[in-house]
Amino acid sequence: MKHILFVCLGNICRSPAAEGVMNHLLARKGLSKKYRVDSAGTAGWHVGELPDGRMRHAAGKRGYELTSRGRQFDPRRDFEKFDVIVAMDDENLREIRAKDPENRYGHKIFKMTDFCRKHQEMEVPDPYYGGQKGFEKVLDILEDACEGLLEWLENGHEFNNHRGN
Ligand code: 4NP
Repeated sequence: MKHILFVCLGNICRSPAAEGVMNHLLARKGLSKKYRVDSAGTAGWHVGELPDGRMRHAAGKRGYELTSRGRQFDPRRDFEKFDVIVAMDDENLREIRAKDPENRYGHKIFKMTDFCRKHQEMEVPDPYYGGQKGFEKVLDILEDACEGLLEWLENGHEFNNHRGN
């Protein structure tokens, strides 16, 4: 069993959507027993909350049901527990790395867009203060990245399908 953690800022838009998209993909590929997926936020503002209604609406139209509850990234437990920790943007990446000053877990930490094969964006943009279109864009990027991430995991971390690095 491999454990995957998606991390954004609030854990109510991007990372719970990534969790929903990934779980859906795993089910479709018959791989649900091989991976466990979770999400967290670097901030604790929305702990216990369902994902943002705009995100749930956009995801629901594509067949993803988002039911996870917000929680904050917990360095004491999450660095050990998860095999792969995937940040949505550069700020999330910086925040996570800052909680690992001795770089013990650097090999587990990635950025979501590094797994994209169709999209050129370097970050999953924060949709919180924008319109509904931003949520669709987030889902487009996440669908691309989840496919790439799963292929990368299934190929034993071969980087040949993997953009840039
Ligand atoms: P997320 O989006 O990081 O994708 O969950 C946000 C959610 C909430 C806030 C910012 C971004 N906020 O400022 O409360």
